[in-house]
This record gives sequence, C-alpha cells and structure tokens, in this order.
Amino acid sequence: MNDPITEDALDFAKQVFKNDFGGHDYDHTLRVVRLAERIAAAEGADLGTVLLAAALHDVDDYKLSPETCAGRTRAAGFLREHGVPEERTALILEIIGEVSFAGKDSVTPATLEGKCVQDADRLDAIGAVGVARAFAYGGAHGRVMYDPERPPRENMTAKEYRRSRSTTVNHFYEKLFLLRGMMNTETARELAREREAFMREFLDRFRGEWDGKI
Ligand code: ADP
Ligand code: NI
Repeated sequence: MNDPITEDALDFAKQVFKNDFGGHDYDHTLRVVRLAERIAAAEGADLGTVLLAAALHDVDDYKLSPETCAGRTRAAGFLREHGVPEERTALILEIIGEVSFAGKDSVTPATLEGKCVQDADRLDAIGAVGVARAFAYGGAHGRVMYDPERPPRENMTAKEYRRSRSTTVNHFYEKLFLLRGMMNTETARELAREREAFMREFLDRFRGEWDGKI
C-alpha cells in the first residue's frame, strides 16, 4: 500500500484490535486490504475508497465493539479526523455497513467498491486461511471439531447464525460453502472456486482419517 491515509487507517485498526483481540483480527484486516486491492484493480473499482473501507471494515464490528457498532463511531471518527469529505465518508460508512455477513439477511452492496470489499472479506473465510480460522474460532469457543451424529443446519437467519453452537466441520456447510455463490465479482468468484475446492478436499481427507480409512 503506498496510500498514506490507508496506512494510517491500518495503524488505527492495529490499535483497535490490539486492545481487544490480542492483534489477531488485525491480520484479517491486512489480508482483506490486500485481497480487496487485487479485486478492485481487476474490476476497475476506485482504489482509494476500497482500501479505506477494507482497512476500517471491522473496527466497529458488533462482536468487538457492540457499543460503537450501530453508529460506526470509530470508523466515522477516523475519517472525520483525517479530513475526508462528508460525501466520501458517507460512502465508506455505507460500504462498511453492507460488508458484514448476516445469514439470509445479508445485503448486496450498492457500489462496485462495496462489492470488492465484501468479496475480499468473504474470501478470507475460505481456503487454507479459512480452514485455519474456523478451527481457531472453534477452539477459542470450546466447540467440538466434528460429530458425525450432528448434521449441519442450512438457511439460518442472522440471529440463528449468531446463536448456533454447531461443530466446526458443520460451520463449513452452514457458512463457508455458501460463500462462493455469494461473490459479487468474477475475480472473486474465480478465487473462491479454488479455495472451495481446497476445503472440500480437506474435509474428504479429514473424514477419511476420522474413519481410519486413509
Ligand atoms: P467476519 O470476518 O465476517 O467478521 P465472523 O466474525 O463471523 O466473520 O467469523 C470470523 C472467523 O471465524 C471466520 O473465518 C469464520 O468462518 C469463523 N467462524 C465464525 N463462526 C464460526 C463457527 N461457529 N465455527 C467455526 N468458525 C467460525
Ligand atoms: Ni472481516
């Protein structure tokens, strides 16, 4: 990134996540910025808007910061302090609002820039990094890795999704395998195809090993 305000936004995100998440989610933010930059370049989206929205997309996340989530207070404060004009600020805040996955209630961003950021965020949940994140999340939340007796639930609403206490393998069916079909851009769809194929191979091997067959 050679854009000074994006660098500042990343530093800001680093600070926000350091206090709350031990730095872990800053790495997610960095990956999303890099992916969003790549998608935006291929799709011809406005790079400045995409980079800023990607860098700030999780600083008011409901899990991290329920009190600032509705007003996107942290992102709004950063943009105001950096003298970003009203109209651009409104656009970036709108994109941040559109980006979060929320089961059947999720929205398609109105702008190409929003579509690029949402795709990048969703791509970071799949592939090898997606597998690692899923099991890291499962471990942190005391979830069982796999239980052949517990089938996955599909088509959950945002509320059901947030409350669900499924196994980590079920999470692949309840969320991760749905993401490829939800990509907005052709660039992201292509990346998602590869990442999904890897996850399917991973689960085949996982079950084979679980059953003592391979
Ligand atoms: P986002 O990056 O959109 O904020 P979430 O906060 O829902 O996504 O999830 C963060 C990461 O944790 C993602 O990689 C996601 O797949 C994973 N995750 C969320 N819920 C679960 C779950 N129930 N089991 C396993 N992994 C999960
Ligand atoms: Ni995210």
